[in-house]
Amino acid sequence: MTDLPATTADPAPGALYWDPYDVAIDADPYPVYRRLREEAPLYYNERHDFFAISRADDVDTVVTDPAAYISGRGAFLDFVRAGIEFPPGMFIFQDPPVHTRQRDVLAGVFTPRRVAELAPQIRAYCARSLDPLIGSGRIDFVTDLADQMPMRVIGMLLGIPESDQELVRDTTTGSMHTDAGKPMEVASNEAQGAAHESLYADYITWREKNPSDDLMTQLLNSEVEDESGDRRRLTHEEILTFVGLLAGAGNETSGRLLGWMGKVLGDHPVDRRELVENRALIPAAIEEILRFEPPGHSFARVLSRDVEWYGTTVPKESVVVFLPASANRDERRFPHGDVFDIHRPRTRHFTFGYGIHYCLGAALARLEGQIALDEVLTRFPEWHVDEENARMLSSSVVRGWETLPASIP
Ligand code: HEM
Repeated sequence: MTDLPATTADPAPGALYWDPYDVAIDADPYPVYRRLREEAPLYYNERHDFFAISRADDVDTVVTDPAAYISGRGAFLDFVRAGIEFPPGMFIFQDPPVHTRQRDVLAGVFTPRRVAELAPQIRAYCARSLDPLIGSGRIDFVTDLADQMPMRVIGMLLGIPESDQELVRDTTTGSMHTDAGKPMEVASNEAQGAAHESLYADYITWREKNPSDDLMTQLLNSEVEDESGDRRRLTHEEILTFVGLLAGAGNETSGRLLGWMGKVLGDHPVDRRELVENRALIPAAIEEILRFEPPGHSFARVLSRDVEWYGTTVPKESVVVFLPASANRDERRFPHGDVFDIHRPRTRHFTFGYGIHYCLGAALARLEGQIALDEVLTRFPEWHVDEENARMLSSSVVRGWETLPASIP
């Protein structure tokens, strides 16, 4: 084994340093990502004891080899470090064959057709958030839109009454927001189970007694194959976990996308005006926003065996963090990667991951983004972000805005 790529716990000024908790780096991590890709494509962080992979080809290698790079110890650094067991049904943190069986169940009910059918409802929720702002001269892309519409959509899908949706949103997303520079406090399996029970058990019980044709009823009727190959109904705990996973993922990440939509198109008025005139460009614009400012910057795997990177043996049990946000700007894959360009030729980006853990909600997130942009442009073709009052949220797991006010001329 050759020496590990050097970093020190207290880097000298100008030395290459990256960790997901550094608030100063998080404010604009892209210059650091560029240096990682060029100077240390296998980077070792001594302070937090993890390796980081930042080039597009290398991220592909990590996400397409789930036997070597396992998710079963957690898919974020904070979760791996917490060293806890995950409840059955939390398949984002599981490996095959359990992951495959559990994912198949949810994929079977959360189908592209079901997602496409949501379009009119998503439009109606956008109108409900945006119409009251007409004539006010202001919009907050986060508090007025991003905090509202995805919550209504996922709440409707899961059968959570409107009166409870804010509580569910704040409970699920609150745990992802941390004090500046601090890791997340990851609750134990038992504590998470208890939280899910108190949040969702009533809706599940109600649906059991009042079946309809919704996603929850289908989940209640779904079967999963167990270890011995027998088919059985999902347990109460598995259903609770599925619902918790969907509610968390459905609220937080889509919300961050809508915040970035306001910011990036606020910064690029020429593209915005083109979109006002030509709505057929909206899907490409949303893809470019997803590539340019992804809501999730770093994910983690643990090595099930030794692997070789750039002449260095990375030992079994090491934590490998991969950076979709860096891969998305790798010039080898995305020429002029730091340039926002809605006419960029379509190339698969890394924002929804890839491989067996590819985001199950990608179609929904895209649809929400596209409809929200169309509805915003119809009402507010111009806006100016109020930079002084915009605030980034603090989180090692997601990157985006806590509040993004803008003036509307
Ligand atoms: C812009 C919005 C979104 C982004 C950027 C995003 C990103 C991601 C990424 C990168 C992964 C892979 C994680 C890994 O490889 O470890 C993932 C997985 C997942 N996402 Fe999303 N997501 C978004 C929206 C959603 C929505 C709306 C839902 C559901 C309603 C959802 C549900 C899931 C689930 C269930 C998984 C686990 C898949 C698996 O492990 O097989 N996501 N997401």
